[in-house]
Amino acid sequence: MTSAPYLIIGAGRGIGRGIAERLIAQGLPVITVSRSSEGPAGAVEHLHADVVAEGLPLDRLPEALSGVAYCPGSIDLKPFRSIRVEDLRAALEVNLVGAFRAAQATADRLKRVPGSSLLLFSTVAVGQGMPFHASVAAAKAGVEGLSRSLAAEWAPTVRVNCIAPSLTDTPLAERLMNTPEKVKAAGDRHPLKRAGTVADIAAMGAFLLGPDAGWISGQVIGVDGGMSRLR
Ligand SMILES: NC(=O)c1ccc[n+]([C@@H]2O[C@H](COP(=O)([O-])OP(=O)(O)OC[C@H]3O[C@@H](n4cnc5c(N)ncnc54)[C@H](OP(=O)(O)O)[C@@H]3O)[C@@H](O)[C@H]2O)c1
Repeated sequence: MTSAPYLIIGAGRGIGRGIAERLIAQGLPVITVSRSSEGPAGAVEHLHADVVAEGLPLDRLPEALSGVAYCPGSIDLKPFRSIRVEDLRAALEVNLVGAFRAAQATADRLKRVPGSSLLLFSTVAVGQGMPFHASVAAAKAGVEGLSRSLAAEWAPTVRVNCIAPSLTDTPLAERLMNTPEKVKAAGDRHPLKRAGTVADIAAMGAFLLGPDAGWISGQVIGVDGGMSRLR
């Protein structure tokens, strides 16, 4: 019997694409979503949709899902005095409201598959205060609360976890890593002396979505080069 597919929202590039590629390489069925970018080869289907503005195209989704990852997010770093309320609202929309809508839209489909999994994304800047992160940290703190609440509400059928990455080399972080000097400085700030790669985060993402993580729920897992815990 073919297993129900995994839905990776934001799989056109970056971490979401990395997760989708890993699941596909394991022979698992994967449906990918993004606005304009294309998903990786081997997906069952790639859906073009703006999940923040419009939500998921529910008529295109199967009745059951083995797992869902919500990967769209933002890094808009500014001194607090420069953050407009509109900036905060934009951060809340893509990070929190989008995740909330995706969870609501896929809840019944996940509940049809015992042991299924929802994966959301926070940031290291929630657990550790960092200057200039007020809008994204506020939004991602909401994602952590959402994640734990759903984990409690949906147990024992659906597991819900969250990854909190530190700076990772993806298109989202391009402006922070677009010179050798910035890459070196970013690495030097981490106890493990480098910034993250898509592979670092996607490996944890694919693990949390899959059956090997069958006894893990309600966790916020730092994949951060030691940033959140080590000096
Ligand atoms: N990279 C980092 O340093 C870092 C650090 C901490 C936390 N994170 C978090 O990790 C997660 C993944 O980040 P990433 O760096 O991989 O991001 P990314 O490089 O920007 O990739 C995001 C993906 O989501 C899609 N997307 C964005 N908005 C969308 C929308 N409204 N509807 C549908 N698809 C949308 C994008 O494709 P389209 O543009 O084609 O839609 C793309 O495929 C995010 O939640 C981010 O906040 C990242």
